[in-house]
Amino acid sequence: MELKTTGLTKKFGSKIAVNHLNITLSNGVYGLLGANGAGKTTLIRLLCSLQAPTSGKIVLNGKDIIALDETYRHLLGYLPQHFRCYPDFTAFDFLLYVSALKGLSEKNAKKRASALLEAVGLSAESRHKIKTFSGGMKQRLGVAQAMLNNPHILILDEPTAGLDPKERIRFRNLISAFAQNRIVILSTHIVSDVECIAEEIMMMKSGAIVRRGNPQEIPSEIDGQVWECTVPTAHAKRYAAAFHTSNLRNTDRGETVLRILSDHPPMENAVCVPPNLEDLYLFYFKGDPQSEKAHSI
Ligand SMILES: Nc1ncnc2c1ncn2[C@@H]1O[C@H](COP(=O)(O)OP(=O)(O)OP(=O)(O)O)[C@@H](O)[C@H]1O
Ligand SMILES: [Mg+2]
Repeated sequence: MELKTTGLTKKFGSKIAVNHLNITLSNGVYGLLGANGAGKTTLIRLLCSLQAPTSGKIVLNGKDIIALDETYRHLLGYLPQHFRCYPDFTAFDFLLYVSALKGLSEKNAKKRASALLEAVGLSAESRHKIKTFSGGMKQRLGVAQAMLNNPHILILDEPTAGLDPKERIRFRNLISAFAQNRIVILSTHIVSDVECIAEEIMMMKSGAIVRRGNPQEIPSEIDGQVWECTVPTAHAKRYAAAFHTSNLRNTDRGETVLRILSDHPPMENAVCVPPNLEDLYLFYFKGDPQSEKAHSI
């Protein structure tokens, strides 16, 4: 299966949310990474054919998705960024309801609903009303409803928002197991959520994909630009604000190790370390460091 965008553009007035995007996606898991306002949701809504592009087109195996219409929608599973469900439904009834909308037979719907509630860790609560659910539980129900029709293309907009660490792991395992021979797209601004499961990362900034590639390989782009510097913990916050800092780690000796992005050694004791995806994200999405603070340290 191949999903391809050509010159895909979406404008809202003078704002260009998706800017002339040419991407080809074959089977695999894609992590769409970008800061707030990068254009992730807009791209996803275009890919789900919920929004018409201003210009450009999307084709699946060479056929325009607008012309494919229902056929395309049947292949698709989608979790919106702000997932809404009916509070007075039970989780199980809600999944049956969505199944009916997706045209599943009752027998199949019941089977899929039970299996998916189990897979997202909600089988014990399957007969509870959704209004009694926590935010993370609703999110997991949202992931389940997106997978009801066994979609060939699964697109999840910030699926891990609100999930605790244990549920994040469960989610990763679920997606990895499901993804075989499918296109799965996950958007997030949390690097660690896609680092392990995505075969390919697409970094999105100002409506464009600025970097694309294997999560283990693309950080090498900034080889020689990531440093670890040890400073007294009492001054760590000021140092962190003065540089592009991707991480802080306290030691038990009253010191803090800062992970800093810089094209030259930021301090005398700086040790050059191999970059990771988190560093690369910072590289693309960093603002200006508060350089005046750097001078005052
Ligand atoms: N309906 C709309 N009308 C006007 N502007 C919009 C609309 N939808 C999105 N935008 C603008 O398009 C840009 C991209 O928004 P989008 O929601 O796609 O970003 P995002 O990457 O999903 O951000 P977030 O991480 O906050 O969800 C933003 O500048 C946003 O303000
Ligand atoms: Mg969004």
